[in-house]
Amino acid sequence: MIDTSVKYLGITLKNPIVVGSCGLTSTIESLKKLESCGAGAVVLKSIFEEQILQQTDSELQEVQKNSLLYSQMSESFDYIDTYIKDKTVDAYVQLISQAKQSLLIPVIASINCVSDFEWTTFAKKIEKAGVDALELNVFLSAADITETNFEQTIIAIINKVTASVSIPVCVKISSSFTKISKTIQTIAQSNVKGIVLFNRFYSPDIDLESLQIVNSGRYSNPADYTLPLRWIGLNANKVSCDLIASTGIHTGDAVVKQILAGAAAVQVVSALYTNGYDHIQTMLAQLEAFMNSKGYQYIDQFKGKLAVTETNASAYERIQFMKYYAEIGK
Ligand SMILES: Cc1cc2nc3c(=O)[nH]c(=O)nc-3n(C[C@H](O)[C@H](O)[C@H](O)COP(=O)(O)O)c2cc1C
Repeated sequence: MIDTSVKYLGITLKNPIVVGSCGLTSTIESLKKLESCGAGAVVLKSIFEEQILQQTDSELQEVQKNSLLYSQMSESFDYIDTYIKDKTVDAYVQLISQAKQSLLIPVIASINCVSDFEWTTFAKKIEKAGVDALELNVFLSAADITETNFEQTIIAIINKVTASVSIPVCVKISSSFTKISKTIQTIAQSNVKGIVLFNRFYSPDIDLESLQIVNSGRYSNPADYTLPLRWIGLNANKVSCDLIASTGIHTGDAVVKQILAGAAAVQVVSALYTNGYDHIQTMLAQLEAFMNSKGYQYIDQFKGKLAVTETNASAYERIQFMKYYAEIGK
């Protein structure tokens, strides 16, 4: 009997396929379908710092226009400001409570944040709602030339949040860092229980007919899995927290490869948008078929088997690249 269970941020999951934060994890109906199709856990759609602030600003502008209803006293506006923020957070807290009542699999909340000042109170509310873990999607743009130390900002956010909650916290980062390995290893020394590699941003493209800048596509493709594979393989033996693969995981074989490289689990989003919820079952069947074919009964028997060690480091690094191109030139 094959056992696909894994530890994820210290929590036991029945299998390593976690549905990543996206629109599919934003309603109870959809979450239930994901559970019935076999998901090991779900990361709820993020609550966005920008979303809260934008909503606050526009509703406050409406309020300010109506001088009959509200006095211009600043205390009123302070109150309204808090109320509007609470409403947005309350809706999220309600989603968590309902998800916890409706599902048996672990439910992970997600906060998309850019700073360390607004979030600790939200994190506490989210914890109180009963969520199993919290994922911080720290949105720092590589195009931002004013940000001098991305790692420090991420660690400041982690420290503030982990000081106020006791549930496991992980962080999801982008791949746009000058020294990704150093960033991963530095973040791993903080209080995080895991690092999700990587967040994916829409890339701009240009439409030659309309001469407009457009999105190149919202979904990853199955070849993209090699991006997290490389950085997980390079770092799995260097960190004590979980590394979780996200981006381009579309097949059970891609799940197996991430685990061989050292991932604790994977997150899947685009594959479910393009193939439907049932695709989780297909991926799980592929994972089990691999385990059967190799005689593995537990995930730990092959987890990290192909992560970088002293002897195989060159397979992940430049020497392999040079060898490949030298052979093409022959
Ligand atoms: C439609 C859509 C909505 C998403 N919404 C969120 C979100 O709210 N928060 C977040 O952290 N990531 C969000 N993501 C990013 C995914 O969680 C994931 O990191 C990314 O899509 C890469 O995984 P994939 O290749 O399996 O799609 C979204 C992705 C898609 C396609």
